[in-house]
Amino acid sequence: MADQYAVIGNPIAHSKSPAIHAEFARQTGQDLEYGRILGSLDDFAADVRQFITQGGRGLNVTVPFKEQAWALADERSARAETAGAVNTLIRLEDGRLRGDNTDGVGLVRDLSANHGFDFSNASVLLLGAGGASRGVLVPLLETGLAELVIANRTASKAVDLAALAAPLGAVVGCGLDALAGRHFDLIINATSAGLSDSVPDIPDDCLRNDGWTYDMLYGDRPTAFCRWGQDHGAARALDGLGMLVEQAAESFRLWRDVRPETASVIQLLRGVR
Ligand code: ATR
Repeated sequence: MADQYAVIGNPIAHSKSPAIHAEFARQTGQDLEYGRILGSLDDFAADVRQFITQGGRGLNVTVPFKEQAWALADERSARAETAGAVNTLIRLEDGRLRGDNTDGVGLVRDLSANHGFDFSNASVLLLGAGGASRGVLVPLLETGLAELVIANRTASKAVDLAALAAPLGAVVGCGLDALAGRHFDLIINATSAGLSDSVPDIPDDCLRNDGWTYDMLYGDRPTAFCRWGQDHGAARALDGLGMLVEQAAESFRLWRDVRPETASVIQLLRGVR
């Protein structure tokens, strides 16, 4: 039987992960099957245990279970430790579960490797201080950026998150109102405002000339924050589809020790032939 993997979340029906991993497996000639599991909201751990007991080799974990997966893991990577969330579970030889978080690497690779953003000396604004923001902090701070400002509608949460990340690099936290007069080379939207088609209330001149915007969300049409970037002169206004594929590629590498090629998969998902 082929090695078994799956993504677990709730809801899960629209997850693109099975299509992405099927493409990676085809491309690299790996014998594996990748399914989707609708996780139970009141017993996520039981669902994971059942999958692993039945021989499952690894899981991707998505909303709303990433923090529970962190707690469930028997050991964790350093980046998952700081993220406080796990999006990749790996069954080790001895049956224990290792937790990792590939979201931040996915974000950084999409920006730098796929699109050529130069993080060195960059002044970066990260909007939001929830799980999505915390999940990408370590890889972002490892890029060699000049400064990272975490800004959040509720200022105290950004201040707390910055304090957590402070040992890793130059990072400060503040409220959105403290952004007046500040200008950034890259603004990353990690808030959930886009789910209601809105954007955080940030100053119009927050983006430096030739600055870039990145929305961790993606959609069939440009997201609200992509539109904000386009309307405010962004040199590039990117959505999170590339991050989705890149985080999947890093999970695939952790499981199979093979790095799949991503550009063709991103094009496939965008419907570009
Ligand atoms: P996630 O796991 O997606 O990060 P979360 O932990 O609920 O979800 O965090 C949502 C983030 O989006 C928070 O930073 C939230 O700001 P608050 O902490 O002030 O609630 C932010 N957010 C959601 N809607 C927003 C909006 N309309 N404008 C600005 N920020 C918003």
